[in-house]
Amino acid sequence: MNIESKIGPRITLEGRSVDYFGGTSYYSLHTHPAVLQASIEATMRWGIGIATSRRGLGNNDLLDKLEEAAAAFLDEESSVLLPTGYMSPLAGTLCLRDEIETIFIDENSHSSDMIAAKATGARVVLFKHLNPEDLESKIRKCLHKKARPLIMSDGVFPSTGEIAPLPDYVQIAEQYNGQIWLDEAHSFGITGPNGRGSKDTFDCQSERILSGGTLGKAFGGFGGIIPCSKRRANKLRQNPVYTGASPLPMPAAAAALAGINLLQSDPSFRKRLHQNTITLRQALKKLGLEIPDSEIPIIAFQHENETRMADIQRALFAKGIWIQHSLNYSGLPHGGLLRIVSSSEHSAEQIARLSEALAEVL
Ligand SMILES: Cc1ncc(COP(=O)(O)O)c(C=O)c1O
Repeated sequence: MNIESKIGPRITLEGRSVDYFGGTSYYSLHTHPAVLQASIEATMRWGIGIATSRRGLGNNDLLDKLEEAAAAFLDEESSVLLPTGYMSPLAGTLCLRDEIETIFIDENSHSSDMIAAKATGARVVLFKHLNPEDLESKIRKCLHKKARPLIMSDGVFPSTGEIAPLPDYVQIAEQYNGQIWLDEAHSFGITGPNGRGSKDTFDCQSERILSGGTLGKAFGGFGGIIPCSKRRANKLRQNPVYTGASPLPMPAAAAALAGINLLQSDPSFRKRLHQNTITLRQALKKLGLEIPDSEIPIIAFQHENETRMADIQRALFAKGIWIQHSLNYSGLPHGGLLRIVSSSEHSAEQIARLSEALAEVL
């Protein structure tokens, strides 16, 4: 099925306008007028792209400003742009390669992190999903004496909305003189008191953590971002992922900059997302579903079996509501999940409509 409109709280599918509870544009910034305007102006000013690496003549003020704005929003000294969020783990893990010997990665990590881990050439050991005890026992078993581990995980898991136990991982990293790579694609701009991701959620500022994410979800743009110290940024800029590719397209860079500025200057986006997430989680709980309390706008549950979940998805669509039956993504259980995403731009009526419709079809 193809989407036939811009994304937002309502979209067009098969010629019908429906409520949209999917995707990852948590503030619908990808279609915000200020974001679109910035993107159009950047296209006219800079063209679509630079068509050479930033280490050549491929840099401009827009990309510098975007890095400064991302670093300020995420409260780091510096930040480094990558062409896509998918490339952030590759750049991040290659950057850490000479500081570690063996990689321990959550078995449900995103494919970009799995591929990045393998690309380092280091030994890769999977540990049980969200399980620091298993992580430590694998480190004890597999790490050579004096060797240093790299612990890898998603900060927030994209299919389930589960949160990695970062303080436990930090404690283990400290014990074994290791590093942590955290994929914050679904946390930057969203989680923690200031929307700065997992470090903000857990108030955990360890220098052992290097996190990276995307500008293509909460921030309404496109491209990868690694916020970090100046020292790490200098090292990342030697990285083949940085030196060997053109930067993200100019309309996308301007969109992300405008999106970051909107989230920075207007706290109501985050407040509305938080409120809608609470309302939606409570409404689903009242239907008897097992929904944990959480600030994560990804709300997922299994119901009976795969066929039944597919039926529920179709029945909701017939009622003018689209939610996702996730079957093909990293870290999904057998039969997949029904995945509902709240956005700051959903109205109270839309949330009520979804819970009434679910009550009828469950
Ligand atoms: C956890 C995670 N990491 C990385 C990515 C890739 O980001 P991008 O789509 O910006 O390339 C995604 C994207 O969907 C993701 O869910």
